[in-house]
Amino acid sequence: MFKIAVLVSGGGTNLQAIIDAIESGSLKDVSIVKVISNKEGAYALERAKQHGIEARCIRPKAYADRADYFRDMIDDINASGADLVVLAGFLVVLSGDFVSAFKGRIINIHPSLIPSFCGDGYYGLKVHEQALKRGVKVTGATVHFVDEGTDTGPIIIQKAVYIENDDTPEILQKRVMEQAEWKILPAAIQAIADGRVSIKDGLAYIEGSISTE
Ligand code: GRF
Repeated sequence: MFKIAVLVSGGGTNLQAIIDAIESGSLKDVSIVKVISNKEGAYALERAKQHGIEARCIRPKAYADRADYFRDMIDDINASGADLVVLAGFLVVLSGDFVSAFKGRIINIHPSLIPSFCGDGYYGLKVHEQALKRGVKVTGATVHFVDEGTDTGPIIIQKAVYIENDDTPEILQKRVMEQAEWKILPAAIQAIADGRVSIKDGLAYIEGSISTE
């Protein structure tokens, strides 16, 4: 069984997509061993509990400094035996120590086609606001490995989503989630669990085909 720890900050619809994929059998031989939120009231924690998944809130503010916070996070994830750390709407900027502790074993879902609309300040609705402001006709989502930068790690899977004339940031966010994020995140986890993803010269490659429909 391939074990994953999922880090969240909010509603947890991406976490839900992973749970649903596991329960329906479309995501095979993968189990969520831990869900960690930095926010106490995050609905994602509730979703985890409803499905019998160990869930915990670790608040950065409860620690004297960031180093202590991330040390506890690293210990907790290591204790869970997770093979992969999945950032599913996790809004805390990771420390270098955390990234090194799980080198090549952290993935993130970002709601645009990287390298567009990514990097510092591009999170949540802001990403979609900027896409609409620029007038792009196609956007989408990206699953990538996490390195020391913001949204700079090797790209694993992307999926495009068309922008429509009457889109608002909220409408676009929902379409990007439904059509792209909730599909490519479980697909990327499956490919990694199957041992079909490799990184060479800073780029990620998937052996064989993947389904994101
Ligand atoms: C998603 O749009 C994700 O791409 C972004 O934050 C949002 C999280 O949503 N990083 P949810 O908590 O999974 O519903």
